[in-house]
Amino acid sequence: MKKRIFSGIQPSGNLHLGNYLGAIKNWVKLQNEYDSIFCIVDLHAITIPQNPQELSQKTLEVAKLYLASGIDPEKSIVFIQSQVQEHAELMWLLNTITKNGDLMKMTQFKDKSKVIVLKKKLRGELVDRKVFSRKESLEYLLKEYLGTKTGLFNYPILMAADILLYDTNLVPVGEDQLQHVELTRKLGRKFNQEFGETFTIPEGFTQKESKRIMGLDDPTNKMSKSASSDYNRIDLLDSPETIERKVMKAVTDSGQGIEYSDNKPALKNLINIFSLVANKKPEEIVTQYENQGYKKLKEELAQAVVDYLRPIQEKYNQISDEEVKKILSDGAKRARKIAETKIKEVKKKMGMIV
Ligand code: AMP
Ligand code: TRP
Repeated sequence: MKKRIFSGIQPSGNLHLGNYLGAIKNWVKLQNEYDSIFCIVDLHAITIPQNPQELSQKTLEVAKLYLASGIDPEKSIVFIQSQVQEHAELMWLLNTITKNGDLMKMTQFKDKSKVIVLKKKLRGELVDRKVFSRKESLEYLLKEYLGTKTGLFNYPILMAADILLYDTNLVPVGEDQLQHVELTRKLGRKFNQEFGETFTIPEGFTQKESKRIMGLDDPTNKMSKSASSDYNRIDLLDSPETIERKVMKAVTDSGQGIEYSDNKPALKNLINIFSLVANKKPEEIVTQYENQGYKKLKEELAQAVVDYLRPIQEKYNQISDEEVKKILSDGAKRARKIAETKIKEVKKKMGMIV
């Protein structure tokens, strides 16, 4: 029997080059070897307030981008998380075996709930800086923390449910999600110990070169849908002019030399992106632009990204809403079949009458 992969992306903003290189590109390759399930995780997206109309539109957009990138609905199941109710149901059941302390360790939660800054403040590690003083006041931080919604805290349990429901072997994601996959493993093992062998224990899968694409405006943080500046990322549907503008505005390090090193994190990120979209080694890019300076490198990087995204954009524009909705509803049917069987097994083992 083929091994299975499962992965998903939140329809909470525009998909960007980090999502593509870190996740989708691997899915397209892996779908030939694995029994594959790709989800649009709208229930995860609403852990941050969403405009309902925009959420529906983004959900279809993400699905079309999966298809345009080469996910083949003949080979893979593609579906919307909220259309298979077993995800939410299994999450509730897993809630009952999850420790608060484990959720409290999740970096994504600590980051979004401001708990990291709050802890620093309480330890007296924050030097008062005038510009940020209001946002770093104890009152503000406490209010932010207490106002954080439970959904954001429980988010990793829903992700564990997504993965465990399908007896997933491998979870191809970007590096930031590996901690959630670890928690999934822990919950799977815990359930198996307590109620008997039920879930397959999955492994995370990342690719060294693409697991963490950094922001164009800040090479110390990952490229992200939720970054406040548009200049942080290249969206998969950006026009050639926008891509050029964003690449030319990308921050660079001091000095003019072209080198691929941790001492020049901004340049390292650009070379990394260049090497991934041009399918060359970073060293080849360095040799090619060694004596040409940043400007030339950026101009040609922009062109390479435009060429790389063009076929995806062309295909995207050919897919109608009707077509994608049909694929998603077929996908939900196929996913439901697997999920229904699993949830029955889980409920029975926990003592529910099914
Ligand atoms: P998200 O945008 O949080 O829904 O992430 C969807 C997928 O893209 C996950 O597998 C992430 O780990 C991956 N991803 C997001 N941002 C990046 C990035 N900057 N570099 C590499 N992978 C990323
Ligand atoms: N939490 C993931 C992210 O933000 C998205 C996600 C939800 C996911 N469920 C999943 C990824 C299951 C892999 C497997 O990127």
